[in-house]
Amino acid sequence: MKCVDDFRLRLGGQELVPIMVGGMGVDISTAELALETARLGGVGHISDAMVPTVADRRYNTKYVKNKLKQYKFNVANTDKAVVQFDMGLLAEATAHHVDATMGAKRGSGLIFINCMEKLTMNAPKETLRVRLKTAMDHGIDGITLAAGLHLGSFALIEDHPRFRDVQLGIIVSSLRALQLFIKKSARTGRLPDYVVIEGPLAGGHLGFGMDWAAYDLATIVVEIRDWLKAENLDIPLIPAGGIFTGTDAVNFLDMGAAAVQVATRFTVASECGLPPEVQQEYFKASENDIEVNTISPTGYPMRMLKNSPAIGDGIRPNCEAYGYLLDSSGSCQYIEAYNREVAAHPEAKKVKVWDKTCLCTHMRNFECWTCGQYTYRLKDTTRKNEDGSYQLLSAEHVFRDYQFSKDNKIALPA
Ligand SMILES: Cc1cc2nc3c(=O)[nH]c(=O)nc-3n(C[C@H](O)[C@H](O)[C@H](O)COP(=O)(O)O)c2cc1C
Repeated sequence: MKCVDDFRLRLGGQELVPIMVGGMGVDISTAELALETARLGGVGHISDAMVPTVADRRYNTKYVKNKLKQYKFNVANTDKAVVQFDMGLLAEATAHHVDATMGAKRGSGLIFINCMEKLTMNAPKETLRVRLKTAMDHGIDGITLAAGLHLGSFALIEDHPRFRDVQLGIIVSSLRALQLFIKKSARTGRLPDYVVIEGPLAGGHLGFGMDWAAYDLATIVVEIRDWLKAENLDIPLIPAGGIFTGTDAVNFLDMGAAAVQVATRFTVASECGLPPEVQQEYFKASENDIEVNTISPTGYPMRMLKNSPAIGDGIRPNCEAYGYLLDSSGSCQYIEAYNREVAAHPEAKKVKVWDKTCLCTHMRNFECWTCGQYTYRLKDTTRKNEDGSYQLLSAEHVFRDYQFSKDNKIALPA
């Protein structure tokens, strides 16, 4: 019987353990988690979601406070078009995060950064270019393009000296999305170095509609694998979403996948950025406590725990401090939903907003408990403490369990 360790991922001239820990914004996949993954010979991710905010918490900068000060005059205004990110400061914050992470890297693995296109930041092209370029400037091993089709993203960085040497990958949920990406990027003379195929059971935003349950990861993987073969294209495929045991991973590796991307099992690792009390919520969750809803202002369905404080909360939009989801004309679906409720309830001290959430604020405060479908199985991966809480795991324990376990077994911590 095989285990994941019988396989190797070849990427950028290196041989790696074929386990990629997926990017989890906002700072849920911390530098510590990515560093452990790289130390153990796999591929870890940091995320650049809300990176100035993350830098403030981690590196004692004051980006958020200063931005809020600059735009305070606009707080009560429903039009957020004036609220712009300063490109120099955005680059500085990204540099802090990437430098601190890459400077601490040990071991033979790699560290990538997850860049979501849907973080449009009131100037989609310009801000994405700065984020990508700065990560490359500061020595990131690779970039995973996420949450969007990224049809123009390669073109944004094609002049960068590292464009052909940094590992560049894309997350897709269908063959059609991959075909579009390859077609639109063809002009840059470069293919992605790897493709993450994210199925309907993943955490975070989903690349499906609310009919997500009609799709199946293995079917999509086979479709993409066979198309690439027919086109004579050799690109490592990395399935993601609901791969919960080493055996689940082996099944995909046997089908021809080059590696797997996993995340949910690492949400209860002590290196993960979620606060310990939130990690207990993940452990406690049953299948009925998990839903896919449409409250994300990005327009993508998102999976989360039903008891996430973000659901129904009606705080005033925080775009002057954050503003990561403002589109190119300075609007966000949450602002519209919030203004509608305020107009409908002029006497209310605080309104309830059910159809959308202020994702920036709630992700920043770990109040939107996004998770994979199999979060309800996390309790089976650990032991209970005497007080009834669940024991957190080390990232090393989870990684090695994926790497060496057989027969659908999950090793419990010592
Ligand atoms: C808490 C959490 C946050 C996530 N955030 C992101 C994100 O910011 N960007 C992204 O591309 N994927 C995100 N994902 C998706 C993961 O990177 C990964 O592809 C997926 O969850 C793998 O499936 P699994 O969780 O069932 O192992 C997130 C997943 C989780 C569980």
